[in-house]
Amino acid sequence: MTSRQSKKKPPARGVSASPAKSWSGRFSEPVDALVKRFTASVSFDQRLALVDIRGSLAHARMLAAQRILSRRDLAAIERGMATVEREVRSGRFEWSLDAEDVHLNIERRLTALVGDAGKRLHTGRSRNDQVATDVRLYLRDEVDAIHALLASLQKSMLDSAEKHSGLVMPGFTHLQVAQPVTFGHHLLAYVEMFERDRERLADCRRRINRLPLGAAALAGTTFPIDRQRVARELGFESVCENSLDAVSDRDFAIEFCACASLILTHLSRLSEELILWMSPRFGFVKIPDRFCTGSSIMPQKKNPDVPELVRGKTGRVFGALTGLLTLMKGQPLAYNKDNQEDKEPLFDTVDTVKDCLAVFADMMAGVRPVPERMRAAALEGYSTATDLADYLVGKGVPFRDAHEIVARAVRAAEELNCDLSELPLATLRGFSRRIQADVADWLTLEASVSRRSHVGGTAPKQVLRAVARARKRLARP
Ligand code: ARG
Repeated sequence: MTSRQSKKKPPARGVSASPAKSWSGRFSEPVDALVKRFTASVSFDQRLALVDIRGSLAHARMLAAQRILSRRDLAAIERGMATVEREVRSGRFEWSLDAEDVHLNIERRLTALVGDAGKRLHTGRSRNDQVATDVRLYLRDEVDAIHALLASLQKSMLDSAEKHSGLVMPGFTHLQVAQPVTFGHHLLAYVEMFERDRERLADCRRRINRLPLGAAALAGTTFPIDRQRVARELGFESVCENSLDAVSDRDFAIEFCACASLILTHLSRLSEELILWMSPRFGFVKIPDRFCTGSSIMPQKKNPDVPELVRGKTGRVFGALTGLLTLMKGQPLAYNKDNQEDKEPLFDTVDTVKDCLAVFADMMAGVRPVPERMRAAALEGYSTATDLADYLVGKGVPFRDAHEIVARAVRAAEELNCDLSELPLATLRGFSRRIQADVADWLTLEASVSRRSHVGGTAPKQVLRAVARARKRLARP
């Protein structure tokens, strides 16, 4: 071969080469080494080994129950698979590039261990329904793990929200100071986003949890199989209804990547806020040093590496979603080799989401707000201007007129370089005679947030209630 071959990727851990493909009888010359490596998936689909074994055992037990396979053969398969599983778990299993993928590797090893019984395992099944089953089994477990990671992140943020239910900070629109809010309330906004993420995952899981096995290559099988039994044994809620769809459907993987993209979108928004808040211009929070790094040239620097990296990783998760959508869009029914390309983006997405969530739960527990800085910023932008307008409305002024009056008061405060609450009463009364001495208490930051006391409002009392409701939601199974 040419120089391309010398640059080829080394085979993955423990992957070796040896002759004789299981379908080689049909071909008259050896497969080109490059093509062999190019078409093989064992370097990455070995990740499916344990679910592949689980699926095979359920299939074999069904075959035996249906008298398609003898009891003796089943016993041999069960014994052999126990050995294979031990080898896989301990890392001793020898993966071979010649056996192409995880399925053929395991079947070949099983056959080496137990002989003909191993060769009978593939009765009434194809790698097409086998791989579709494996990916669903794999993803179902990972969805459960991600669901739990989201819940721990929520728990960690609920603890902070409770602790800082009364801490005032500026709320922003257009990144301009808008109205005071509480830090607890701000954190709870993300708890809601992550709650929707959990709902979406739970919904996506229902569609993952259907059994393709029994579809065989594409048309079903001539053997009297019992698909319900296999579904029951593997914990699937139902069986895929149509064999052509069963082997070729990857919607569930796309849906999962869409869920993952939204999770990362939320993490990325939170990252962006942490990065801004950590910047000395804001100085709203401190992040523990272990989530930051220094600069190799500027000794004074402390950079928010973890949030930046999470913001960056969002791109690769979106990439996986786009990749899988594109992978599917041109495929005629039923199975096509294109589908082998579903695994790497899917696995990468699972790994990325899990890492990002785990590191975030840890980091959010360590985020310390800087109350003085938040307060100073909330006082800077006339954040209680709406409160003054609401005050005037309370005194009978129509809201549009009140808006106008307050705009003039803000201009006056700007000229005097002070906050609205610091304007002398006489000055305020110059804009409206309805303004009275009680306005002073009305315009404090604390009064402003406390008045927004209804479900979903920023008042400390409401934050505490929202925390309690969210905790109850989390406790539900
Ligand atoms: N490695 C293949 C995949 O990931 C398994 C299915 C192969 N089926 C086939 N007819 N070539 O999709």
